[in-house]
Amino acid sequence: MPKVRVLNLGNREFEGMENQSIMEILYRHGYEIDSACGGHGQCSSCKVIVLEGMENLYPPQFEELDSIEEFGLDERERLSCQAKLNGKGDVVIYIP
Ligand code: FES
Repeated sequence: MPKVRVLNLGNREFEGMENQSIMEILYRHGYEIDSACGGHGQCSSCKVIVLEGMENLYPPQFEELDSIEEFGLDERERLSCQAKLNGKGDVVIYIP
């Protein structure tokens, strides 16, 4: 199973499945990421920095693309409510 490792949570690893968002994976393991818009891709409170494994996430779509532009996220930042594992490998993130 692909995993999300969180650098600033003591390198803790969270197992996930293809098509699950980073937020969903952490939530299922008891960790909540801030989500001012309720996980609809319309704010940036859930953003994370992807340190490794960007290729193991599906590319941004629809709401996330709009929010990336609106909130000026850089190429390593993704919205954790929208960024979904593609099942090909692990991801390492930092939660700002
Ligand atoms: S919770 Fe608002 S964009 Fe993810």
